[in-house]
Amino acid sequence: MKRISITFAGQEIEFVDREVAIRQIRQFAEEGTYPVYVIYGPEGCGKTAFLQQAKVILEEEFGYRVIYVNPLAEETEKVLQFTSSIEDIVREVFSLFPEPYSRIVDVAINVASRVLRKLGEVKLAVLMDDIFQAVGLDKAERYVKILLNLIEWPPRRYEKIVVLVTSSEGITKSRVGRHSWADLFTIWNMSREGFRELYEKLPGKKPDFESTWKLTGGNPRYLERLYRVKWNVDYIVNSIIQRSGITRTFVQRWKKHLEEAINDPDYLWYGPEEVEELAKELIEKNLIVFNIPPRKQYLWIDTPPPEKDLEIGVGKHVAWQTPLHREAIRRMLDLV
Ligand SMILES: Nc1ncnc2c1ncn2[C@@H]1O[C@H](COP(=O)(O)OP(=O)(O)O)[C@@H](O)[C@H]1O
Ligand SMILES: [Mg+2]
Repeated sequence: MKRISITFAGQEIEFVDREVAIRQIRQFAEEGTYPVYVIYGPEGCGKTAFLQQAKVILEEEFGYRVIYVNPLAEETEKVLQFTSSIEDIVREVFSLFPEPYSRIVDVAINVASRVLRKLGEVKLAVLMDDIFQAVGLDKAERYVKILLNLIEWPPRRYEKIVVLVTSSEGITKSRVGRHSWADLFTIWNMSREGFRELYEKLPGKKPDFESTWKLTGGNPRYLERLYRVKWNVDYIVNSIIQRSGITRTFVQRWKKHLEEAINDPDYLWYGPEEVEELAKELIEKNLIVFNIPPRKQYLWIDTPPPEKDLEIGVGKHVAWQTPLHREAIRRMLDLV
């Protein structure tokens, strides 16, 4: 199998590990997806890398036409990617939208629908990477329904269809999860072994593996960020405080409960009634993952996290997105 090439810490590396996920892609390719598969995972855990690898497997091993969209991609050429044989259709749709990049998700759906109509008995994959922020969190459900319609009411018969949508927004998880329009899967940070492989690829001097694991909990994005700032943990923690809007008033207000949640995030699940509101705020700030499903493989993409691992902030039902997110709260608590 061709493993995609990824730019990581300034060098080209091969897609690492995720053996189980790769097998799952093959299964989706063989069976198609029904209903829409929504894959939720913490920020930076590797969703984009996973969909990029899925694209290549679907195209090269299974002959799928693939349309991939990532409205938040940093480089324009990565926003919309597609199998070259549907280029004409993409051009046609681009000419219909006055500002295609401002409505790129609609463009992609329109392309998918035209591919089905024009090409007939094809295998089609629609990969929607972190689209909910771009379309508006309040419209997440509507978009999932539109995608389901593509599967259920196609303009013409197709051979197979695969629709995968990723999300890192905790709010959309509960919204999307309450309908039968989608099956919800969870993907986690990398397993210890996979993470070690990635860690070994980092050039230069680095802290020992154990402390890197304890800092990041296996999150590849934070591994890369730490590398880039020469392992300046303070810098990263402060950037989380800023970006997530962890204010003094917030930690002051919830001090007692936050202290508990730092020791064991499951406190937010089992704790007194008033922590429900705190949990909601932490979900909105993307600091925790709430309502983590049981560790049954069929609910997960790739290997699920351990049942509970307090060292890296993983509880049975609630987890800190990474230990660095927990550290951000801890530092603010020290100040109040
Ligand atoms: N399996 C993997 N092999 C190699 N690098 C990976 C892998 N998964 C993620 N990465 C790298 O980690 C970083 C974060 O991954 P990304 O897919 O962007 O996360 P997400 O989309 O979930 O926010 C990227 O630099 C990506 O290239
Ligand atoms: Mg991504």
